[in-house]
Amino acid sequence: MKTKLSVNVNKIATLRNSRGQNTPNLLKVVEDIERFGSDGITIHPRPDQRHIRYSDALDISKIVNSEFNIEGNPIDKFMELVLKINPTQVTLVPDEINNITSDSGWDTIKHSDFLYKKIQVLKSSGIRTSIFVNPDPKMIRGAFEIGADRIELYTYHYAHDFNLDKEKAISQYFQSAKEANKLGIGINAGHDLNLNNISFFKEKITNLLEVSIGHALITESLYDGFENVISKYKSILQ
Ligand code: PXP
Repeated sequence: MKTKLSVNVNKIATLRNSRGQNTPNLLKVVEDIERFGSDGITIHPRPDQRHIRYSDALDISKIVNSEFNIEGNPIDKFMELVLKINPTQVTLVPDEINNITSDSGWDTIKHSDFLYKKIQVLKSSGIRTSIFVNPDPKMIRGAFEIGADRIELYTYHYAHDFNLDKEKAISQYFQSAKEANKLGIGINAGHDLNLNNISFFKEKITNLLEVSIGHALITESLYDGFENVISKYKSILQ
């Protein structure tokens, strides 16, 4: 089964913002990434707008031709933005305002009422919903019970442990995917995936629908170019 590649373009906005002008041109990069074969574009606007700005989200929504995935903490401003845009998918992430990057999934049991309400609002606008979770079957069940369409497995720990012991690194993810497949909730994954660790993940996780990759893909592209790197990911994800 083919896994879709959604390229996270936050880093392009970070690079642009570092000079206060419009180079690189984020919209041109989005168009090129799609032309090179990406199945989707992911953005993760944070409240301080230090990389993707809310205005970028609106601009990208007008030109994106592939699946558009917007990730973030469902604070009021975020919900207003995504309801205005109506992207293909919204991924709910429990990131704190000052986090450098996401560092944990939701506790889908403790926050079930809060998440349930957000999911209902998104679903009533026809938006696919995904919940960012740690690889814990209890959290997968929690996401299923509040009606999420998908989970996004937080893969930092897999990526971190992969070079030490890949079988051990995948085991919780394998159990979580088994639970997700039993319940019939879709599986996405993301964080710290790269060309080195993604094949094994893809091989072991049955029914992996989508991966969203930013940091490594952009770093790898510095050496090899977007077109080659995207095509390498795509051939692994076939
Ligand atoms: N998923 C979520 C929820 C994230 O916050 C990020 C990073 O913005 C990613 C996936 C992609 O991670 P990476 O940039 O390490 O590929």
